[in-house]
Amino acid sequence: MKKFKYAVVRKPSQSMTNGLTSADLGKPVYEKALEQHSNYVEALKQCGLLVKILDPREKFPDSCFIEDIAVCTPHCAIITYPGAPSRNGETDGIEKILQKYYTEIEEIIFPGNLDGGDVMMVDDHYYIGLSERTNIHGANQLIAILEDYGMTGSVVEMNDMLHLKTGINYIENGNFLVTGEFIDNPSFEKINQLIVPEEEEYAANSLWINDTVIVPEGYPKTKKMIEDLGYSIIEVDTSEFRKLDGGLSCLSLRF
Ligand code: GLY
Repeated sequence: MKKFKYAVVRKPSQSMTNGLTSADLGKPVYEKALEQHSNYVEALKQCGLLVKILDPREKFPDSCFIEDIAVCTPHCAIITYPGAPSRNGETDGIEKILQKYYTEIEEIIFPGNLDGGDVMMVDDHYYIGLSERTNIHGANQLIAILEDYGMTGSVVEMNDMLHLKTGINYIENGNFLVTGEFIDNPSFEKINQLIVPEEEEYAANSLWINDTVIVPEGYPKTKKMIEDLGYSIIEVDTSEFRKLDGGLSCLSLRF
């Protein structure tokens, strides 16, 4: 199944070593991060995507985590209002980029906060995590926009994780990778939960693209669980991004 055609990524800036983090894994090594980012882009291309690579932005240490600044649906793109003050300005310039792909562009406005990492697309429905980065105003604005375009959204209460997709990700065909506070969470009905063990929690943020699942390198149990369902797998090492709480989905917009 081909669902996505394009990806937009932003090359990491040297300032990424000062990015936001709660991981306690030390500072990322910039040269290594660049290499991993380039391998990530290759993986997206292997999945059939045309990848637009944006220049690094030194002013914004977390700007390689471009997923947070827009929600890209099949009908419109929505520019977000990121919840971390140091990341607010990351949205500057993204409208011009998205105009190359979309005629309909919407935006989340203050007092709404919304990070794209808190938005999980499941067909025409979007689950929105109420995290420290996404508030109810942002979620309600997004739901109203989605409904204008014939889609739906619902909110998910959350307590522990940075973003919704830190702990739950849809890999299509009814299958969800789930860990931590999202295991058996009543917000998600009738889902096939693939439970990612605590020691591999990071791999819950694996990324489905056109029937291939990109899995972070070094999480064999999760990889096997996905493989056993018949998916093709590409492994990509994202250790330097993990040091900034960033996962595979955080590094691109896909549509
Ligand atoms: N370091 C990624 C973020 O906190 O948004």
